[in-house]
Amino acid sequence: MSTAVTNIGELVTWEEGRPLRHAAAFVVDAGRVAWVGDAARVPAADEVLDAGGAAVIPGFVDSHTHLVFAGDRATEFEARMAGRRYSAGGIRSTVAATRAAGTDALAALLASRVAELRRQGTTTLETKSGYCLDVAGEERSLRLARDVTGETTFLGAHVVPEGWDPDAYVELVTGEMLAACAPHARWIDVFCETGAFGADQARTVLAAGVAAGLLPRIHANQLGFGPGVQLACELGAAAADHCTFLSDADVAALADTGVVAGLLPGVEFSTRQPYPDARRLLEAGVRVAIATDCNPGSSFTSSMPFCIALAVRELGMTPLEALHAGTQGGAWSLRREDVGHLRVGARADFVVLDAPSHLHLSYRPGVPLVGRVLRAGRPA
Ligand code: NIG
Ligand code: FE
Repeated sequence: MSTAVTNIGELVTWEEGRPLRHAAAFVVDAGRVAWVGDAARVPAADEVLDAGGAAVIPGFVDSHTHLVFAGDRATEFEARMAGRRYSAGGIRSTVAATRAAGTDALAALLASRVAELRRQGTTTLETKSGYCLDVAGEERSLRLARDVTGETTFLGAHVVPEGWDPDAYVELVTGEMLAACAPHARWIDVFCETGAFGADQARTVLAAGVAAGLLPRIHANQLGFGPGVQLACELGAAAADHCTFLSDADVAALADTGVVAGLLPGVEFSTRQPYPDARRLLEAGVRVAIATDCNPGSSFTSSMPFCIALAVRELGMTPLEALHAGTQGGAWSLRREDVGHLRVGARADFVVLDAPSHLHLSYRPGVPLVGRVLRAGRPA
């Protein structure tokens, strides 16, 4: 079954040297982009999808979320807006709620969050464990996550749980917990930060994950300058996420190694921290992704359009750069060739905006501009 998508106001494909096209069309066949070109030359297809003059963009790739959790931390957010600082310790209250949740209830919460992301145009998402911090709970979280995405991340090293000696906990994470979780995960992650795990512990966790066949990514440099970004570069991680506090050496290392800097502006919005400087990264040649970090503590938004608007207003990106970071950049972060763009061969994941141009995503912040969402050519 093939579909010709026509009457497109502006088509964003991220083709080399030609990121967006006007008077263009494309054809989807068997869930993939089979042809892209001038609307006047569109080949015959089984059916036509008329975009009504609207912009068509690749589906968003949210490369960093924490969707498997119970409870919320709205009162912690309220206290922060009254002046309290964010700290890694708040994670433990979500751990208590998640441990207490029944599996069906947790699965239902996860499903409703995934639906919320999809409605806002996200067609590929990564999600993590990290809110149980015991062997059975982390394994359960990843089994549930595996049902909604192939991009699952084992984050047993989110924070040291109540009552544990840090070294003993790292031993658990890299031993029994990793053995239980690795079969359900693609990625290994660690929160390398004051109040969570130091450089040596983080290196131990990531190395153990790699030895178990997982690919490394990291939470780094969120709350202050620190060793996480350098560690990511040393280990050849796919991504270093947060990157809020970076030295010149950190920026140079990211540029040299090609490690993707994942910027999560919902965090700075929700914690009243200074925003990272995307301009500095782009000018240094660093590959940048934008993601929501959807989680109950530091960023309870599931909206890629909101994060893209923040990236433009607060991180110094142009609207086109921010859209690129939320699509192609996310695909780089997840080492995916098949998503994040609409070049020939891509999975046909796309959004028909209720707007004539991608500019409206940041020009009209907070407005629901995501019209139709298609994944592999079908309604998502
Ligand atoms: O990415 N930084 C660590 N983890 C999450 C926050 C988790 C929480 O506060 O519950 C983050 O910001
Ligand atoms: Fe996170």
